[in-house]
Amino acid sequence: MSSPAPPTAAPASPWWRDAVIYQVYPRSWADADGDGVGDLPGITSRLEHLVDLGVDAVWLSPFYASPQHDAGYDVSDFRAVDPLFGSLEDADAMIARAHDLGLRVVVDVVPNHTSSEHEWFRAAIADGLGSAAAARYVVRPGRGPDGEEPPNNWLSNFGGRAWSPWPGETNGELHRHWYLHLFDATQPDLDWTNPEVHDELDAVLRFGLDRGVDGVRIDVAHGMVKAEGLPDADLSIDPNVDPTGDLPMWDQPGVHDVFRRWRRLVDEYGPSDSRWADDGDRILCAEAWVEPAESLARYVRPDELHQSFNFAFLLSPWIAPELRAVIARTLRTAEDVGAPQTWVLSNHDVVRHASRLGYPQLRGRAPVTGVGPGDPQPDAVLGLRRARAATTLMLALPGSAYLYQGEELGLPEATLIPDDVRQDPTWERSGHTRRGRDGCRVPVPWTDSGPSLGFGPAGAPWLPQPPEYADLAPTRQRGRPDSTLELYRTLLRLRRELGLGRRRLEWIDHDSPDVLALRLSADGADSAVDAASEEVVVLANTGPDEVPLPPDVRVLVSSATIEAGTLPPDTAAWVRRS
Ligand code: GLC
Repeated sequence: MSSPAPPTAAPASPWWRDAVIYQVYPRSWADADGDGVGDLPGITSRLEHLVDLGVDAVWLSPFYASPQHDAGYDVSDFRAVDPLFGSLEDADAMIARAHDLGLRVVVDVVPNHTSSEHEWFRAAIADGLGSAAAARYVVRPGRGPDGEEPPNNWLSNFGGRAWSPWPGETNGELHRHWYLHLFDATQPDLDWTNPEVHDELDAVLRFGLDRGVDGVRIDVAHGMVKAEGLPDADLSIDPNVDPTGDLPMWDQPGVHDVFRRWRRLVDEYGPSDSRWADDGDRILCAEAWVEPAESLARYVRPDELHQSFNFAFLLSPWIAPELRAVIARTLRTAEDVGAPQTWVLSNHDVVRHASRLGYPQLRGRAPVTGVGPGDPQPDAVLGLRRARAATTLMLALPGSAYLYQGEELGLPEATLIPDDVRQDPTWERSGHTRRGRDGCRVPVPWTDSGPSLGFGPAGAPWLPQPPEYADLAPTRQRGRPDSTLELYRTLLRLRRELGLGRRRLEWIDHDSPDVLALRLSADGADSAVDAASEEVVVLANTGPDEVPLPPDVRVLVSSATIEAGTLPPDTAAWVRRS
């Protein structure tokens, strides 16, 4: 454990404003003990990969005690490490090693719900209806004469209704009661109107911060507070298709009070390590699937969170005018509240962008949450080509960016996982209509041969790796200039050298509607960028035809080979005047 430095005055140029943060999904990154599931010692042993890649920090999905009904997002003890992943000492060792390597560590916190095996829910069941323990959860009488209908019409995110019959003591109450779960039935929602819940989550935050973590990613940040009275929802709104829809379980104003309190708490802490005394603090980042951009920006007002993932960018089709509109609007709304943007293209909940972009690019057409055998399959070559271009665009944009493990290898979604080995609860809960997210969670390859392609000593990892992963192992890509791994390394090195994440973006109008063109100037940029530094121009061609490059430019990096002064289809480049 590192000894925290005392809080200092807020730095002018804190690290997180342009940090690149790499998401590790602990089940699937590196397996040291050979049980087929990744673990903390495995992660610690592979951290050099992140230094070599050139990122600033690592974010880990949950590794806490959990029955693993939702791959660890069902936490049964917020202060314990699940034996599947190791021990608390392993977590301390991982944090210490990351800090030694100059990497900051962000962890997940899951405040919307607990596991049904959490001691709080067990106590609620034992003590029964009306007890103080039950009051920590959202428990309500059902509708109908005997309460046989759920209290409202809300649906679970994973499919089916969002309520299950109360399984515990009824304390003489004959009318049936139900408990709310916006996700799996094993993930009962906490009641954020209960002060005890606030106090407990404060303590959980402190537990991590005291151990030296540099930030917290807040799971389902937009769902913690529900509309008063839990009114019926308009079921014609599918939040996966229309995130702007007004729904009583998402983006309620009260959630901002929670985050103001959290910000005060986090601000009590200085940097986790004295080496970072000058450039800032621990951070809070929201997972909030909220649109429009103006609503999302409320999460990053100066007294709230530092970051909130820009999912509108992730969901945008690879179409230049659409990308420009979403980038412009989201940058403007964040700037209005003094916050940087937080870009992301892949994570453990969505189809990897190397596959998502291999579908026809019409809004709402590319699958976001799962593909299986029998579904239309992506064009893998086109998908990877566009993914490389999209990342080249993203890593030039002002603000911070998150990468998801394996995207630096160009890993595609595993779209042919047999249905009988699926683990995501979505598959069962949706009555086998939604495949769910296993395809982006397959263990990563480290070598092109050997047991589980170097993921660990077990022959068979917890999800099968598709055959094409062998060719994508870092051992095959290192030193090959045209490889995706080398592209990411170059992008990250140049981004850092040129201070791109701290520059000011200006749009350039281009003759072709298929080309997105922008300039990143040092003028008016963050003080950390040398004001005399020459501007960088970014061009992205999302169309089917090649377009001429401006005359007299020098290509700094491009997502595909550029010849004879033209920018090929589905290619992005960073250029400078020669
Ligand atoms: C978030 C997580 C997702 C999880 C859900 C419930 O969306 O990213 O993986 O299933 O919350 O905790």
